[in-house]
Amino acid sequence: MGVWWWSIFLAAILFFHDFCASEIAPNYSFMQNATSAPSVSYYDYIIVGGGTAGCPLAATLSQNSSVLLLERGGSPYGNPNITSLSSFGAALSDLSPTSPSQRFISEDGVINARARVLGGGSCLNAGFYTRAPPDYVRDVGWNGPLVNESYEWVEEVVTFEPPMRQWQSAVRDGLLEAGVLPNNGFTYDHLYGTKIGGTIFDQKGQRHTAADLLEYANPTGLTVLLHASVHKILFRHKGKIRPLAHGVIFRDAKGAKHRAYLKNGPKNEIIISSGALGSPQLLMLSGVGPAEHLKAHNITVVLDQPLVGQGMSDNPMNAIFVPSPLPVEVSLIQVVGITHFGSYIEAASGENFAGGSSPPRDYGMFSPKIGQLSTVPPKQRTQEAIDKAVEYMNQLDDTAFRGGFILEKVMGPVSTGHLELRNRNPNENPSVTFNYFKELQDLSRCVQGIQTIEKIIDSKAFSKFRYNFMSLPTLLNMTASGPINLLPKHSNASTSLEQYCKDTVMTIWHYHGGCQVGKVVDQDYKVLGVDALRVIDGSTFNYSPGTNPQATVMMLGRYMGVKILSERLAK
Ligand SMILES: Cc1cc2nc3c(=O)[nH]c(=O)nc-3n(C[C@H](O)[C@H](O)[C@H](O)COP(=O)(O)OP(=O)(O)OC[C@H]3O[C@@H](n4cnc5c(N)ncnc54)[C@H](O)[C@@H]3O)c2cc1C
Ligand SMILES: *[C@@H]1O[C@H](CO)[C@@H](O)[C@H](O)[C@H]1NC(C)=O
Ligand SMILES: *[C@@H]1O[C@H](CO)[C@@H](O)[C@H](O)[C@H]1NC(C)=O
Ligand SMILES: *[C@@H]1O[C@H](CO)[C@@H](O)[C@H](O)[C@H]1NC(C)=O
Ligand SMILES: *[C@@H]1O[C@H](CO)[C@@H](O)[C@H](O)[C@H]1NC(C)=O
Ligand SMILES: *[C@@H]1O[C@H](CO)[C@@H](O)[C@H](O)[C@H]1NC(C)=O
Ligand SMILES: *[C@@H]1O[C@H](CO)[C@@H](O)[C@H](O)[C@H]1NC(C)=O
Ligand SMILES: *[C@@H]1O[C@H](CO)[C@@H](O)[C@H](O)[C@H]1NC(C)=O
Ligand SMILES: *[C@@H]1O[C@H](CO)[C@@H](O)[C@H](O)[C@H]1NC(C)=O
Repeated sequence: MGVWWWSIFLAAILFFHDFCASEIAPNYSFMQNATSAPSVSYYDYIIVGGGTAGCPLAATLSQNSSVLLLERGGSPYGNPNITSLSSFGAALSDLSPTSPSQRFISEDGVINARARVLGGGSCLNAGFYTRAPPDYVRDVGWNGPLVNESYEWVEEVVTFEPPMRQWQSAVRDGLLEAGVLPNNGFTYDHLYGTKIGGTIFDQKGQRHTAADLLEYANPTGLTVLLHASVHKILFRHKGKIRPLAHGVIFRDAKGAKHRAYLKNGPKNEIIISSGALGSPQLLMLSGVGPAEHLKAHNITVVLDQPLVGQGMSDNPMNAIFVPSPLPVEVSLIQVVGITHFGSYIEAASGENFAGGSSPPRDYGMFSPKIGQLSTVPPKQRTQEAIDKAVEYMNQLDDTAFRGGFILEKVMGPVSTGHLELRNRNPNENPSVTFNYFKELQDLSRCVQGIQTIEKIIDSKAFSKFRYNFMSLPTLLNMTASGPINLLPKHSNASTSLEQYCKDTVMTIWHYHGGCQVGKVVDQDYKVLGVDALRVIDGSTFNYSPGTNPQATVMMLGRYMGVKILSERLAK
């Protein structure tokens, strides 16, 4: 009897153990905390930043060389704030120093976020997965067939078809009625018209991130160090002419200093994949950047490179909350309308997220808790304004959360800004200016996007998810039902869509630039003017690829890994 019960008990434990092991943490024998790393070590490749591009790059290079991947954050595995779709926003509203997300506010006044975790932005994002169009691939000068193979390599592991429920289906049908044609069904391809895109959330709502691409790694070729914050790239002067990158200094969670160097070998390199804020920041901290600016921070100039930190852009996003008489499903982005006038229409519904209460009474991707505060113009989005909006939100009736947001993102964008150091601390945010809507073309694309959203709201297909008495001006001026849409700061904002665009601009977190191709790096992503150093991530883009960038960021990590290895192995 006793033995019988014990064996059931043991079987249950073993089953549970296996279940957790497969759901929560893969057996990454190569991953460890930086505190246990030696003070000096040597590799063929050192990659700074285990993000959306860094993980696929490291997995690929490890096949035929020794690779060190340094990530300042921790592991995403086992953290429900990251892994579960219904807790989207939990990490973004966690402002502690150990949060996987680091908040920053641009000089424009828009609240934003950057990743601090293995897997990078793919651990925080809304999961939408869609490729760049072939003309983007051609303009950048990539090799088309290798691009397609690299996308497929990524898709094999991290992408899924989203469940299309009632509310997202109504948005799709509304887009078609609004003339965003044809209906392209479910596809990863970028095609004019309306489509369902991929997602990195599986059928159970579990997130699959760029860190999962490390499954492809050769465990004997790779070392991943977590909580390893790189402070500096070290340069030597080869024949006193061109600086040569040969090592890095990083600090572990206890603040101890470590050095990693390249082994001797002509093909060995350091690759920066620290993202659009991190990569230009680290180049400057290492002495590559505008000389006067570096001198002002007492940084020894290795190379005067005035274009480091230039060409920073963030695609403006504006959204309209549409209250619904019917309950709606919880959804992140599943449908996209790709218009001919340069605006992408997407949508999210339901009351998911941002930590704590159950049911979660919150606005998800548009919650003031995560810094999305379109009810006041950018420069007024202070902590006090956020607190006030959250307090207001907490007093609302459950029905105030029933509904969804239809958003538009301006493609490109054309407007650009710049990034500067605030201090010499790599863990702190640099200062960044995006200049939203500085160029009139961006503004007119926003206005046309909002006009298309109006058509969707008014469509027959969408009618059951809106109240009939709410016209667009009423919706835009909706102050009674929640901290959403616009509290009329400028009295003309509900009548002038230009003013509405400017006053309610938010981020869709697709910011990019700072180390652009042709300016800071060459066509092979090699940093101009120095040797053995590349930058591979979203900081190299001139425009955001496709409707949403993550597919192309992961693809680029794989693509460049394959190219670098084939150069290495070429005789
Ligand atoms: C909230 C949110 C929602 C989004 N939604 C979508 C979406 O639905 N679909 C989509 O396609 N895209 C989406 N995006 C955008 C997409 O996720 C990003 O464009 C992409 O992740 C950027 O990848 P990256 O490799 O350039 O940078 P990251 O992924 O940010 O990687 C940079 C890595 O470098 C590390 N790092 C930085 N500095 C250092 C240092 N000094 N030492 C060590 N490590 C360092 C960081 O911790 C980070 O892990 C979203 C982004 C966010 C934040
Ligand atoms: C994890 O992988 C390592 C090396 O690949 C192997 O030695 C070890 O047995 C594995 N552990 C488990 C629990 O599977
Ligand atoms: C790694 O370090 C972090 C930060 O110090 C700590 O929270 C975590 O528990 C450590 N993990 C392991 C496996 O030691
Ligand atoms: C590179 O690695 C792959 C996979 O591990 C292996 O099949 C191939 O033989 C290696 N090539 C060389 C030249 O070492
Ligand atoms: C999840 O996020 C909440 C805040 O949104 C935070 O309080 C909590 O500590 C986080 N949990 C983990 C495991 O990071
Ligand atoms: C890449 O795949 C897309 C479809 O996803 C196709 O339209 C394109 O022609 C392919 N490009 C090449 C060079 O094969
Ligand atoms: C730079 O160094 C000088 C001289 O040591 C010092 O006075 C100044 O405060 C330093 N500036 C910064 C930004 O650290
Ligand atoms: C917008 O709402 C405010 C406050 O409720 C009201 O005073 C104003 O007249 C409204 N404007 C329009 C154009 O509806
Ligand atoms: C709206 O009003 C503000 C302040 O009154 C003014 O600065 C702005 O130019 C107006 N916008 C438009 C588009 O008329």
